[in-house]
Amino acid sequence: MSMNDYIKDFPILSSKMNGKPIVYLDNSATTQKPDSVVRAICGYYGGCNANPHRGAYELSVKATDIYENTRVKVAKFINANSQREIIFTKNATEALNLIAYSYGLNHVEEGDEIVLTIAEHHSNLVIWQQVAKAKGAVLKYIYLDNDGNLSDEDIEKKITAKTKIVAVTQVSNVLGLINDIGKITKKAHSVGAVVVVDGSQSVPHIKVDIKAIDADFLVFSGHKMLAPMGIGVLYGKENLLNAMPPFLTGGDMIEYVEEQETTFAELPAKFEAGTQNVGGAAGLSAAIDYIERIGFEEIERIENELLNYALTQLKELPFIKIYGCDSKKNNKTGIIAFNVKDVHPHDVATILDSEGVAIRAGHHCAQPLHKYLGLNSTCRASFYIYNSKSDVDRLIEALSKVRKVLRLD
Ligand code: ALA
Repeated sequence: MSMNDYIKDFPILSSKMNGKPIVYLDNSATTQKPDSVVRAICGYYGGCNANPHRGAYELSVKATDIYENTRVKVAKFINANSQREIIFTKNATEALNLIAYSYGLNHVEEGDEIVLTIAEHHSNLVIWQQVAKAKGAVLKYIYLDNDGNLSDEDIEKKITAKTKIVAVTQVSNVLGLINDIGKITKKAHSVGAVVVVDGSQSVPHIKVDIKAIDADFLVFSGHKMLAPMGIGVLYGKENLLNAMPPFLTGGDMIEYVEEQETTFAELPAKFEAGTQNVGGAAGLSAAIDYIERIGFEEIERIENELLNYALTQLKELPFIKIYGCDSKKNNKTGIIAFNVKDVHPHDVATILDSEGVAIRAGHHCAQPLHKYLGLNSTCRASFYIYNSKSDVDRLIEALSKVRKVLRLD
């Protein structure tokens, strides 16, 4: 299948934005959904909606099957040992909050250290500030080297016997740089720390094998990988999850409830209080099927081709400054952060919008990274499987108009 063929599976991409055919380049924020995912969600609500785990009747059994079969599929997708290691959450942010409240608050003590990278999304940063504040712990950061990659020197220096948790993104949502998680887990485990990996920008784009990277926790969001919003995943090593107290309490996460005491359910139910998002799970299941039909080799090939094609053209525009994109020195997914000389990113995005091109502008929920790079904000174009070289051409064409529209050229 050539790369342009995938677009036909995404009806929204044949519609218009501001009267122009849509060029959707905000895939790091959320991806579009293929027909098969939309059909799976409609099929669930139209054909077998019921509360899972609760009813003995056929509809409820079907809903339970959809939900639990998706868990098995997710476990296989990331090569987990067991479906008991897969907890469904609302999104990656909720999964990170679960880890911080249930593991962090119970394992971090005064004077301990939590190590983050400067490239974290706020969702893998603010919560660790909260834990550090609550427990009197110290937050330390791994910064970037001159090429924009995580500094090896910092990895060695910052992770010490005092480190209890290392929280790291596998792929930066701003720069697209792929971090070597194996290197970090090796160092962290040598000092007895656990590693929390934000896979929001990696799991949809590169093959993530949890055994290979040996992370203790991995989180990701369905909506960034073709599935609907409202379903996310927390992977945790079974021994760690077993020892952790529940995050939220209520129905379905219990074994016995007495007037004064409760015993909790086994994994994974212990961490899934209340009625769960079965429609979301149906969508996630179809999304994984779709991704697996294409395969990560092909997904990476498409993104790489688009990345290189876009970089070559962007570099020819003298008014564009690109960040973290030296293809010889950086291992990247299809994300490009850039600025247009003398134009605020919000103005760039607005002018591109009038040309039918959707990009994100701002700090991308990564203010510390922007500050570290000496920036207030950037424009970001991010690719996925349905993008094509003609989308890049439209981006370049629209960018060429920005300074003219503002009468700067
Ligand atoms: N985390 C999403 C992004 O990077 C919202 O745009």
